[in-house]
This record gives sequence, structure tokens and C-alpha cells, in this order.
Amino acid sequence: MSDHGIGVMASGRGSNLQAIMDACSDGTIPGHVALMISDNPDAYALHRASKENIPAFCINPTSFDTKDQYEQAVSDLFIEYGVELICLAGYMRLVGPVLLKNFVTKMLNIHPALLPSFPGLHAQEQAVSYGVKYSGCTVHVVDEGMDTGPIVLQAVVPVIQDDTPDSLSKRILEQEHKIYPQAIKLLLEGRLKIEGRKVEIL
Ligand code: GAR
Repeated sequence: MSDHGIGVMASGRGSNLQAIMDACSDGTIPGHVALMISDNPDAYALHRASKENIPAFCINPTSFDTKDQYEQAVSDLFIEYGVELICLAGYMRLVGPVLLKNFVTKMLNIHPALLPSFPGLHAQEQAVSYGVKYSGCTVHVVDEGMDTGPIVLQAVVPVIQDDTPDSLSKRILEQEHKIYPQAIKLLLEGRLKIEGRKVEIL
């Protein structure tokens, strides 16, 4: 089995990072997390990575004059650490062209809604307010848009009468932790054929 280098970007709690690290440890994902980068110095994700002896750095965008300079620093570090695939795991910024350039079709994101419904921030709150009966999560290839890239996997959960954004988030998160490692495995095994918007699983 190949041991691919995975880079993770996370801004907060890092439960998806944990699911990815666990799936690497138990052999579900044929790779290892080679580097974790956060844009937030207080992100719990940094502790999670350090606890597992994974190199983890905060690169603070406010330390750079431009977004391009920030993304160049992030990109250089991922390349230095041998990262082949970047997984955005609760990374709360729009990826720009400088970071994307070296990782076209090699960057995945998880979003807590059934895209193309409810992109952007507070997706679970958007779903509850709208009154949909089903929501879920989506793993997609990252492109230059906001949650617009080709869809790899989705999981559906019911929205229950008295759901709050919090209760719905918990139900969705359980599914996130299942489908994100699956999608990463498929990509690293070369089993995703991406043609335009369509992703075929081989
Ligand atoms: C997850 O629900 C993820 O889908 C979402 O942030 C949460 C991060 O949780 N991402 C987005 O909303 C991106 N637009 P985690 O830090 O525990 O993985």
C-alpha cells in the first residue's frame, strides 16, 4: 500500500482532522497526515495534530501584506513536507489561485450541507431556517468558487421537527467523519475520474 502525504487545513475544533488521522492509523486511508496548517492560533486542531506527533503550524494571514503572500507561504510549506493532497477540514477561508495552482484536483473540502444548497458559512443554520426535511454533507473537489467544485460523495440526514442548528450539526458531523476518509481513500487510490462537474468512482 502506498503511503501518500496528506496536508490538512483547519481553522477550529478539528474533529474531521481527527477522523482523517484515525483513518490513516487504521489503514483505511493509504497515507499519513504529513502536515497540518491552521490560520487560527487558537485552533484545537493544532493540539490534536501535535498529540499525534504530526507537524502542525499556525500560519496567520494577518502576518502577511496580501492573501497571495499568505497562500504562497502555505503552498511552499505543503510542498516542502511532501504533501500530495490537501484536505480542507473546517478551514473557514476561500482558497485563492495561489494555493490552488499547485493542487488542482488535489484539494478536497467537506461542507455541512447537501451542495449546491446552503454554501458558505452557517450551513446548518441555513438549512434549519429554510425548513428543509433533509440535509447532510458533501465532499467536493476544491475549485476557485465558494463550495462549488465537483461533488465526490454526499451523505443525507433527516432534519427533525425540533432541530436546532446545533442538534443538526451533530447529526451531520457523524456522517462527515465517515464520508471524508472514504473520499480521501478513493482519490489517493486513483479511483476518481473527474470530467467537468462529474466525478465518476472507478
Ligand atoms: C465541519 O462541520 C465542516 O463541515 C465545516 O466546519 C466544521 C468543522 O468541524 N466546514 C465548513 O463549514 C466549511 N464551509 P471540525 O473542525 O470539528 O472538523
